[in-house]
Amino acid sequence: MKKFKRYTVTAALPYANGPLHIGHIAGAYLPADTYVRFLRLRGEDVAFVGGSDEHGVAISIGAKKEGLSPRAYVDKYHEMMKKAFIDFGISFDIYSRTSNDLHYKTSQEFFLNVHQKDLLIEETSDQYFDEQEGIFLADRYIIGTCPNCGNTNAYGDQCEKCGTSLSPKQLINPRSTVSGNTPVLRPTKHWYFPLDKFEGWLREWLIEGHINDWKPNVYGQCKSWIEQGLLPRSITRDLDWGIPVPLPDAKGKVLYVWFDAPIGYISATKELKPADWEKYWKDPETRLIHFIGKDNIVFHCIIFPSMLKAAGDYILPDNVPANEFLNLEGDKLSTSRNHAVWLHEYLLEFPGRKDELRYVLNSISPETKDSDFTWKDYQQKVNSELVAILGNFVNRVMVLTWKYFDGKVPSGHELPATTEKRKRILELYNKAHTDLNRSVKAMIDALSHFRFREGQFEMMNLARIGNKFLADTEPWKVAKEDMEAVGCILNYALTVVGNISVACAPFLPEASSNIVRQLNGDALMDKWKM
Ligand code: MF3
Ligand code: ZN
Repeated sequence: MKKFKRYTVTAALPYANGPLHIGHIAGAYLPADTYVRFLRLRGEDVAFVGGSDEHGVAISIGAKKEGLSPRAYVDKYHEMMKKAFIDFGISFDIYSRTSNDLHYKTSQEFFLNVHQKDLLIEETSDQYFDEQEGIFLADRYIIGTCPNCGNTNAYGDQCEKCGTSLSPKQLINPRSTVSGNTPVLRPTKHWYFPLDKFEGWLREWLIEGHINDWKPNVYGQCKSWIEQGLLPRSITRDLDWGIPVPLPDAKGKVLYVWFDAPIGYISATKELKPADWEKYWKDPETRLIHFIGKDNIVFHCIIFPSMLKAAGDYILPDNVPANEFLNLEGDKLSTSRNHAVWLHEYLLEFPGRKDELRYVLNSISPETKDSDFTWKDYQQKVNSELVAILGNFVNRVMVLTWKYFDGKVPSGHELPATTEKRKRILELYNKAHTDLNRSVKAMIDALSHFRFREGQFEMMNLARIGNKFLADTEPWKVAKEDMEAVGCILNYALTVVGNISVACAPFLPEASSNIVRQLNGDALMDKWKM
């Protein structure tokens, strides 16, 4: 019996503050899309939700820099990212955005729900204020001297030189990164989510409950976070861009971006399935999976689950297969230094070659540690793997089938083992078939457990097996004396091609439909349904 009836799959909502690059794609969207395509191939019921994250100080500041209103700024980048995702073929069921009305309503209701449960703490404290800009400064927007090591450019939340975590008030000579001025302390009221009260529950649900099924990098980070002790976290901010705190005494306050953004997954599902969205968020037989990059781990594994738990009747993420980071030519990807391969530019420069990028990014997916993209490696993988192994095999089988059988699938009835040569062919056939079944199984197992590199390798193995089968059976030689045997060989080779057309669908969707078209084999796609 299947444990789950349906799947809710999310991919981190990217900030609408710049174009997408290959680091975003390799980190969350490609694995999510590969997984979802695999689930659909198995006939599973899936809601794949995504959208743009349009709040937060980063948006306000970015907008200012470009001389745009926050609204005009997010409109610009939301459209740009949405188009790039669609053009690249990330198969979201919905790509929404957090500035829409339904999301405002959903987030405010969520806030009120936990507020009415008397869970939130209301507290006034002194915080740094930039008088020139007229804004309270988030931790990241204050820099100063580290009290521990003397680094003069430590951030308000951490010194990146010595690693000490800090609070803004510990900085010596604090200055605002927005205006450069010295900020002043001003009292302000905020609402706090009592994360400390969820510590016992988190130990049980996460530390004990997910030790065996979460990736070690994800699990380890969560465990050490919880063990360092949890504190209440503020979930409101003083900003003029964001979702207003839905209380009478909260003028000028908005929800903290990391409070509203993950609720965006819920809002997007509501938008997608107005009538039965609740099944995708509240039925314990639904499996919730979050695809993210490693910088998002605590939010998705600790804070958002605690929010869901506090709200009451929600399911919790069953797995959060976060990836590490991708580098480019040995150096960190960076938007500000323009050190990136931009998705929209790739699509323009290399039309019709989405599968290539998918293939390469999947093969170097930073699943367990950071990895590196280089153009040299890209070229090598495309030429000596994608073209030389997979393309070549499919092509050879098609050419031979046209040559000997006029493009018709030869009959695959049992070949009587009447000669030594036939015996040898049948042996090779059995061997190939055993290998093929093993690889198909291994691929399914790998994909079911978020091991995409391995899954893709096993998929490519099908073509390796097929190439070897042709090289060993040599149908072009057999054709001189025994056409029945050639029929048997090509019948099986075509079976392998058919399996490849299905197996490559999660990884290489365009190649998959091309092969299916060449085989005239629409029904193939139902083969793997459970
Ligand atoms: N915008 C965040 C980032 O790019 C991710 C938000 S994920 C969500 O790091 F869950 F909050 F939506
Ligand atoms: Zn320091």
